[in-house]
Amino acid sequence: MDLAEQAARLREKIDYHNRLYYQNEAPEISDTEFDKLFRALVELEEAHPELRTPDSPTQRVGAPPVEGLEQAKHGMPMLSLDNAFGEEELIAFDERIKRFLGLPLEDPIEYQVEMKYDGLSLSLTYENGELVQAVTRGDGTTGEIVTHNAITIDDIPLKLAIDLPGRVEIRGEVVMLKHVFEAVNKKRVDRGDQAFVNPRNAASGGMRQLDSRLTRERRLSFFAYGFGAVEAGVSLPGSQSGQLDMIRQSGFSRASQTWVCASIAEVVKVTEQVLAQRASLDYGIDGVVVKVNEVARQRELGNTARGPRWATAYKFPSEQAFTILKDVGCQVGRTGVVTPVAELEPVFVGGVTISRATLHNYEEVKKKDVRPGDTVIVQRAGDVIPEVVGPVLDKRPNSAQPVEPPTHCPVCNTELVKEEGFVAWRCPNKKGCEAQIATQLIHFASRNAMDIDGLGEKQILRYLELGWLTDLPSVYRLKDHEDDLMNLDRMGEQSTKNLLAAIEESKTRPLDKLIFGLGIRFVGERTARDMAREFGSLAEFRRAHYDQLIEIADIGPTTAGEIEAWMEDPANQEMLDEMIALGVAPVESAAPVSDVFAGKTFVFTGKLEKFAREKAEELVGMMGGKAAGSVSKKTDFVVAGPGAGSKLAKAEQLGVPVLTEDEFLEMLPPDVSLGEEFGQTLF
Ligand code: IVH
Repeated sequence: MDLAEQAARLREKIDYHNRLYYQNEAPEISDTEFDKLFRALVELEEAHPELRTPDSPTQRVGAPPVEGLEQAKHGMPMLSLDNAFGEEELIAFDERIKRFLGLPLEDPIEYQVEMKYDGLSLSLTYENGELVQAVTRGDGTTGEIVTHNAITIDDIPLKLAIDLPGRVEIRGEVVMLKHVFEAVNKKRVDRGDQAFVNPRNAASGGMRQLDSRLTRERRLSFFAYGFGAVEAGVSLPGSQSGQLDMIRQSGFSRASQTWVCASIAEVVKVTEQVLAQRASLDYGIDGVVVKVNEVARQRELGNTARGPRWATAYKFPSEQAFTILKDVGCQVGRTGVVTPVAELEPVFVGGVTISRATLHNYEEVKKKDVRPGDTVIVQRAGDVIPEVVGPVLDKRPNSAQPVEPPTHCPVCNTELVKEEGFVAWRCPNKKGCEAQIATQLIHFASRNAMDIDGLGEKQILRYLELGWLTDLPSVYRLKDHEDDLMNLDRMGEQSTKNLLAAIEESKTRPLDKLIFGLGIRFVGERTARDMAREFGSLAEFRRAHYDQLIEIADIGPTTAGEIEAWMEDPANQEMLDEMIALGVAPVESAAPVSDVFAGKTFVFTGKLEKFAREKAEELVGMMGGKAAGSVSKKTDFVVAGPGAGSKLAKAEQLGVPVLTEDEFLEMLPPDVSLGEEFGQTLF
């Protein structure tokens, strides 16, 4: 093998491992082995500089600090965009364009819709195909030169893959992917550094580093969205969509995802689709950009002082907002865990107004150092529970005091305990703490557990207060209060009868529903199902031992220990005796209807579009297979939807086959159909 070939092979290998490390977070070789490969290439290139190529990975690692950032003028200004909020403003944008072009309002215009990436805009200059300069947006005319940092980003080609002579600017947005943000933040917190508040700040701070090795550590990504100034003589496609295709072909693997729409009505549909997907994307967007697709029309429309007439930003509700933290209260959960809760000045975020947000646990409160009186950043992404990201330290009042965890249960005043290895404070008064009893009952009666219609939170709290409910078995003694129930305000005879019938009916729910309803710590629906399948009957289940439990896929030592401890607590066995005496007789959990998945383990990750993940998992069980929560060598298939992250990467690393949701559905026997019918026949 000659030296040039040797260098090329090394480069290929290094690029491959870099991708695994930086993009998939799933390295196949150790850092030392990687360093060895890397050093070999550096040495080879140093000994034979003619072998060094501009796109060699040795050019990407980052270099010691530059003195300061210099400035450069853009070849063409980087404009900002007008905003449109809501469908009406989009339609007004479309009409404005038609009026300007002198077109009848009923003539459709073709638009291209792109993601509006929430990061830092960057203009890259290529000269005869080689990256020569990267400049931030700055004031739109002049920006800061950050070439040393741009070359650390793997998505930015150092050399274009197609022939584009002369000087060409390509523009896009630098972002930090959400999974990278989480990993980078975790590392920062473990090191004792303050976490980044959002991926945008992390990306924009990363790009402005003087020391590009620090930029490299942030593992940034680049999404290209268009051309800037292009030297005369280079001919570009006549549509925005064609130009983006050209950018993709030139080596930008992450050019913007796009939709070409025949009319503004289609644009509106796409915006709805994108908004629904938003939370499951691995990058942050603050909306979509709508662009007139035809370049000739773009030219005719031209620009205003602020931005182009031919494009607008359709903004989505912000997922982060500032508000005041009024107080930190606490809540006692089903298993006695005391959770700190932020009481907030109401604020509109992610499309809803929130006034409370979880703070997870007291360790987190300490780590984030949020104090009553602070101005805080709150976040609500998609359907995720709202959370407090952190304080704005500049705005902290002098009087703000740190939050101390409570020493006693706020409900029953029992002294709280903290178990070895756990961060949570718990109220140990399992049987006497009203808050725990209430949440246990709410959980027991809930839809996914015993599904008792008419016994919701409100009723449970009321009946507890009246002393009619005291523990789980007391649900089945509620019928002794039939007359009292009928006399309660708003409960007529009929509702009382319905409630008692629902309670009666719940006695023969499938075993897994009862197991889940018992609220044993760490036992979720999946674990409950696995145990019901393994043990078959309540009698067997209540004799469960650690050794049997640990054999069940997805039950680890902690959960097995917790379940065994629960079984060994005489109060729990008495409770089961009592329930049985009151007529609770769970039926066997539904037997598999088919064995097409027998012996196969599935993991679902990302967003599923056709049905909820729990249903998909239940479906696997119905077909004789198993659903697991994490990917391992034992996994047979991973079903990945949009937004899949580390589980997908792990599957790829282990060579586990990855299916789309549709491919998964195709594996089902033909007589299983989805939709309403499916919902009724199987569930
Ligand atoms: S086009 C002249 N396309 O949004 C057209 N911009 O508010 C201007 N942005 O600073 C840019 N994603 O950095 C365009 N797909 C996209 C974009 C995008 C994000 C940013 C851009 C600009 C800001 C304008």
